[in-house]
Amino acid sequence: MWFFNKMCTSNVRLDGKTAVITGANSGIGKETARDFYRRGARVILACRNMEKAKKAVEDIKNNPPAGIDKSVFLNSTGELVIYSLNLCSLKSVKDCAKNLLRNEAEIHILVNNAGVALLSFEKTEDGHDVVFQTNHLGHFLLTLLLLPKMRLSSSDCRIINLSSMLHLFGDINFDDISLEKSYGTWKAYVQSKLANVLFTKELARRLKEANIHGINVYSLHPGLIPTDIFRHGNKTLFPGAQFCYNLFTAMFCKNIVQGAQTTIYCAVDEKAAKETGFYYSNCDIATPQWRARDDWYARKLWDLSCRLLHLKPEEDFTAFLKTMSHQIE
Ligand SMILES: NC(=O)c1ccc[n+]([C@@H]2O[C@H](COP(=O)([O-])OP(=O)(O)OC[C@H]3O[C@@H](n4cnc5c(N)ncnc54)[C@H](OP(=O)(O)O)[C@@H]3O)[C@@H](O)[C@H]2O)c1
Repeated sequence: MWFFNKMCTSNVRLDGKTAVITGANSGIGKETARDFYRRGARVILACRNMEKAKKAVEDIKNNPPAGIDKSVFLNSTGELVIYSLNLCSLKSVKDCAKNLLRNEAEIHILVNNAGVALLSFEKTEDGHDVVFQTNHLGHFLLTLLLLPKMRLSSSDCRIINLSSMLHLFGDINFDDISLEKSYGTWKAYVQSKLANVLFTKELARRLKEANIHGINVYSLHPGLIPTDIFRHGNKTLFPGAQFCYNLFTAMFCKNIVQGAQTTIYCAVDEKAAKETGFYYSNCDIATPQWRARDDWYARKLWDLSCRLLHLKPEEDFTAFLKTMSHQIE
């Protein structure tokens, strides 16, 4: 509710840092990009819709975050760059990673923000449910491809996975991950959001066990926020579903600026720099549902995700990461 609106109070600057944000052309992603840009970062908007991405860049450049003076803003900003990324296509994910690895000297922050909800059943060109691939599998691959560069970039790198409190209602259908036999619009979304929390936990564990320090991983619930996330609900739920959701959330929950705060907190806060593998809500650690805390679930989803991507899920994570470069050769 509106009274749980903690803001990220850190004044950390991001000069010299490069941050990649998926789905940064609208909603929470765009607001996060605005914040990182005003902190001096080189912000990469990884988007599938180039026209919307260009408009977002113009909007960010011309409108400082609330409470920041425009002349101060104009003198202390970073850079905004657009890369093409369509998470519904594993080829596009690989191409995007290849371009990032080739063109960017370093990558310090990766925000896996893009997401879809409330779609009717639809398969990607790779044969997976669109919601599962967009929200989890595409990000899983992108992250693994960028990890070797992040590892070389600094001792304070962060990976942030946007989940949702709705993961509380999710389960992972290991035998039918694309839900071909039992698809439901909500079921697909809550499964994918549970996958975001499990991926975070398992990646943090593997990094720790491989003695790879300086890359922290976070998952989070941003709040309920009036964005475009409900737009497919106009077809799959009832006409006007997005309007109703946005009216309700605008009145009783968070606005978009408030909705970006937990992402920003995980990306920049000094206290969060000492934490990894946790789930956050309102700029604080929160408790996810029991499956999200279960090691068996986390490992099994990791192995399944690797299998779907034709990767061998080796326990030796350092050796595993070395094999990732073959994916984009
Ligand atoms: N808003 C909420 O109440 C809420 C609550 C809990 C969690 N979340 C999570 O917050 C994240 C951000 O959502 P939002 O609320 O800001 O919604 P949004 O305004 O709809 O933003 C979603 C972004 O994801 C992008 N996207 C979707 N499919 C993509 C694909 N295949 N490839 C690349 N980009 C793609 C969209 O780009 P296009 O313009 O090309 O579609 C858009 O930029 C999502 O992960 C969502 O699950 C939101």
